[in-house]
Amino acid sequence: MMSYSSRFCLVLFMSICGVIYSASPNEDQWRDRITQLPGQPMNVGFAQYSGYVNVNSGRALFYWLVEAPVSRGPRSRPLVLWLNGGPGCSSIAYGASEEIGPFHIRPDGKSLYLNPYAWNNLANILFLDSPAGVGFSYANKTSDLYTFGDQRTAEDAYTFLVNWFERFPQYKYREFYIAGESYAGHYVPQMAQIVHQKNKGIKNPVINFKGFMVGNAVTDDYHDYVGTFEYWWTHGLVSDSTYKMLRTACDFGSSLHPSVQCMQALKVAVDEQGNIDPYSIYTQPCNNTASLRRGLKGRYPWMSRAYDPCTERYSDLYFNRPEVQKALHANVTGIPYAWKACSDIVGNYWTDSPLSMLPIYHELINASLQIWVYSGDTDAVVPVTATRYSIDALKLPTITNWYPWYDNGKVGGWSQVYKGLTLVTVRGAGHEVPLHRPRQAFILFRSFLENKVMPSQS
Ligand SMILES: *[C@@H]1O[C@H](CO)[C@@H](O)[C@H](O)[C@H]1NC(C)=O
Ligand SMILES: *[C@@H]1O[C@H](CO)[C@@H](O)[C@H](O)[C@H]1NC(C)=O
Ligand SMILES: *[C@@H]1O[C@H](CO)[C@@H](O)[C@H](O)[C@H]1NC(C)=O
Ligand SMILES: *[C@@H]1O[C@H](CO)[C@@H](O)[C@H](O)[C@H]1NC(C)=O
Repeated sequence: MMSYSSRFCLVLFMSICGVIYSASPNEDQWRDRITQLPGQPMNVGFAQYSGYVNVNSGRALFYWLVEAPVSRGPRSRPLVLWLNGGPGCSSIAYGASEEIGPFHIRPDGKSLYLNPYAWNNLANILFLDSPAGVGFSYANKTSDLYTFGDQRTAEDAYTFLVNWFERFPQYKYREFYIAGESYAGHYVPQMAQIVHQKNKGIKNPVINFKGFMVGNAVTDDYHDYVGTFEYWWTHGLVSDSTYKMLRTACDFGSSLHPSVQCMQALKVAVDEQGNIDPYSIYTQPCNNTASLRRGLKGRYPWMSRAYDPCTERYSDLYFNRPEVQKALHANVTGIPYAWKACSDIVGNYWTDSPLSMLPIYHELINASLQIWVYSGDTDAVVPVTATRYSIDALKLPTITNWYPWYDNGKVGGWSQVYKGLTLVTVRGAGHEVPLHRPRQAFILFRSFLENKVMPSQS
């Protein structure tokens, strides 16, 4: 079935869309090439590939590469790997379909429309469903699903990367970055650390790693907790007594595996917050309160669901369609459960989750990698205060103190440049910054790639 369609593409390529595919793809790439997704606008002008890369016996990770438009010279542009968090949430569902990807899904769950602020206008974007068990990525051994944790996730993602570069040799030695949000605040630096360590001592490494960027990122459990509870209290979301209770019961524990007392305090806090969208506290939650409730009942309510349960529903419809899966070369082995934006199994049975990423930051800052941290400042799940306390704990010297950055004469947010790290906030954005503030997120991404400070009014 797959080879048939790739032959077909080959013919199509020669005759019609030849102009789009400037690279000379090998046979594996032909197999993975996407001709047209169901409901996709025609003549998009950029190439897409998707498929599986085996990372271990029984585990295969699903990727979706969206190249920069041919008119913008994809071959001279960097490669950026994008990861969503959870743990257990799909980068195809969130990053690609409602944040930085080229297509967003209409409420009918059938048709797609173009995102004018898609990040592939600036770089070739590689979305990865990670770890196995998330989205279309799968593990054949059931035991693999119940024993996932940070370490294996980062190792598998690195193995994926090495194998992926073999399939796409035109990306070897190309500038490479990693980006992600939320619980990917763990995956991104952890993966960056592995790439950095494997590259050490190699003059011209295949994976030409330049740096990373994370948004509303889980970074350091202690400082994240302190900043999160402070945010809830200062934004009037919880009572004085609950604030005190949270500080006592939770501060020194693990955010992924809270104690019983901490869970009780968190439950009281959620009840006090009421039916708001914690991922974006000043916008309406989705109408369907049943789905919202389900989202808030998990053992780790703050992180395991992304912004809008309504947009999540459109993804659910779209990615469960057999013709969509066929066009994406996904689910070729007959995965025995339906596609979901977030996997409860992967999320609920997560094992290792280190308390802090700060030691990795120290190591990578010392290695002069380019590191940017951004935060949408209306998120109550991994709030801007949590990020600021975590960054403060690095005790980096300041190069440019806190200043407003501008977009079209309006304050887009604030920024502080440290030695080795740039912090950027996005005003009015929730947990998924590119969803809430697509234009400001695009400016942020451009500045990151150019390694230039955020534009100040001049
Ligand atoms: C998983 O099992 C299916 C069916 O036996 C097989 O086709 C596939 O290659 C396996 N995947 C991996 C990554 O081993
Ligand atoms: C909620 O649903 C009702 C009826 O289904 C609809 O009239 C209303 O506009 C919806 N509100 C929001 C905020 O989506
Ligand atoms: C995979 O395909 C099977 C049908 O072969 C379908 O029942 C299942 O829901 C699909 N699973 C995913 C994760 O796409
Ligand atoms: C910092 O980098 C130098 C080399 O540039 C290395 O010798 C030193 O061990 C590094 N320190 C840490 C804490 O990683």
